[in-house]
Amino acid sequence: MDNERKFRKAAETIRRASKITVFTGAGLSALSGIPTYRDPGGLWKHVDPKEMATKQGFRKNPAQVWEFAQWRRKVIKECQPNQSHRILADWSKRYSQMTVITQNIDDLHQRAGTRNVLRLHGSVWDVACSLPCEDSPRRWRDTRTSFKRLPPKCHFCGALLRPGGVWFGERLPLAAAFQSAQATQCDVFISIGTSGEVYPAARLIGDAKEAGAFTIEINPDFTPATGVVSLSIHSPAEIALQNIEDVLCPSIKDS
Ligand code: APR
Repeated sequence: MDNERKFRKAAETIRRASKITVFTGAGLSALSGIPTYRDPGGLWKHVDPKEMATKQGFRKNPAQVWEFAQWRRKVIKECQPNQSHRILADWSKRYSQMTVITQNIDDLHQRAGTRNVLRLHGSVWDVACSLPCEDSPRRWRDTRTSFKRLPPKCHFCGALLRPGGVWFGERLPLAAAFQSAQATQCDVFISIGTSGEVYPAARLIGDAKEAGAFTIEINPDFTPATGVVSLSIHSPAEIALQNIEDVLCPSIKDS
């Protein structure tokens, strides 16, 4: 089936669905200028995730982890939601029972106005006390892009502050994990821009399929999910979503 027919098939499935779940990864924000992780030019090709995104790495060199986090804050602050974020935001307002589950920490879905977003890996703007101390909340928002001193200190107890995103080996935020599991009970589950290599998030696609959802993957590359989903669309998200949207809501084209 060529992509034109796949776009139409996806649009028909979305139109008929009452419950829609969209699952997004770093590929969705690539067009906004935020590097992915595992693509040829990806972040993890330049820095070691074990050093930058684990408790052990933080313990070994907290200043280095904060230099990386501060650089990411500066990059993300300059980026804008792209066409894919805007189309998904429109869908989240048009389809009342739509959930967006994102692995991305860039908050671009929220900045595009998307409703009902579940952040599985937290936000780049989250911080937390590294102890954690009793006086501080689990995590809180701190939108600074540069800190006087790295690593910064927890203002509740003076211990080191840590970036508040979810690191490898850490549990997902309970509420987001629970609601994401519930959201796999849907009519159509659309996975967009994720390599599907990081668990437990990557399990959601198979869970949705097992629950009877029509599963769609939008990714220019092959992933472990490609052979599992009901419909695999090999295309960048910004092209696939625009084509699907053109079928759902044909704009009045100049004749
Ligand atoms: N449209 C759709 N997909 C794209 C695009 C695009 N324009 N550009 C790249 N991709 C695809 C790539 O082919 C790749 O399969 O996006 C995927 C990005 O994969 P990763 O870099 O592994 O990112 P992701 O799947 O989100 O990583 C999951 O890993 O490091 C952790 O916590 C981090 O949330 C992240 C998790």
